[in-house]
Amino acid sequence: MSTAAEHRPAEAAPILRVEGLSARIAGQQVVEDVSFTVPATGITALLGRNGVGKTSTIKAIIGLIDRTGVVELAGERIEKEATFKIIQRGVGYVPEDREVFSGLTVAENLRLAERDASPRRQLVEELFPDLLARAGQMAGTLSGGQQQMVSLARALLNTNKILLVDEPTKGLAPKIVGEVADTLAEAAKTVPILLVEQNLHVVRQLAEGAVVLSGGRVVHTGRALDFLDDAGLIHRHLGVSTDAASHGDPVEKGAAL
Ligand SMILES: Nc1ncnc2c1ncn2[C@@H]1O[C@H](COP(=O)(O)OP(=O)(O)O)[C@@H](O)[C@H]1O
Ligand SMILES: [Mg+2]
Repeated sequence: MSTAAEHRPAEAAPILRVEGLSARIAGQQVVEDVSFTVPATGITALLGRNGVGKTSTIKAIIGLIDRTGVVELAGERIEKEATFKIIQRGVGYVPEDREVFSGLTVAENLRLAERDASPRRQLVEELFPDLLARAGQMAGTLSGGQQQMVSLARALLNTNKILLVDEPTKGLAPKIVGEVADTLAEAAKTVPILLVEQNLHVVRQLAEGAVVLSGGRVVHTGRALDFLDDAGLIHRHLGVSTDAASHGDPVEKGAAL
């Protein structure tokens, strides 16, 4: 007789695998022996308090900071490659401070981001109708939420194997947070996303998996909802109460929301 394990469908190969990733910045160990995988579909959240190494982990993956360990994209080792090669392989990076070219128009910002021979302009126009209407506006005069949309649109113009999106809702008004989250949900139908996100309401809405960091190390991995529903884990690793996890209300100023 066969066992239940034999009947389990084979796990789809992850799009990104990180194994024993370590990185130092200015002599300080900021990423330490980090291992996790990102599935080939949906959104995986990278969580943790401020300063635990989320941004550094993303930068280490694409080689923006020196690191040791294994990084595998779609089954191929990439950790020896230069950043531009990793990006060319299909890694879209939306950095924390949503840098746009302030003195260029929205249309110019988008055109500059086109890397592929056939950029996905139609997808971007569908996902960001507001940007289409503002094509001629200087990006520096956009609101924070609109600049975030430009930043996401720039990454979505190209066909990527994965997007690395760092704190896209940081500092945005609640209504705009919802709009950015809805856009990410739509984007995730076309590309898997590793998402750094402090707003647990957004994590609950979007993420299937969660990887939690503390002090540069992975302290928890699993289903996002299992983590969000575990008051003890939330409190231990993020320093917020369960209420915050369900409603997205800040508990400790500057803590996790
Ligand atoms: N450019 C830098 N110079 C010195 N220390 C840095 C630099 N960038 C990050 N760090 C330190 O590395 C640690 C991890 O930072 P970071 O990856 O930005 O955390 P997170 O994104 O989780 O908030 C922190 O202690 C931070 O102070
Ligand atoms: Mg960060």
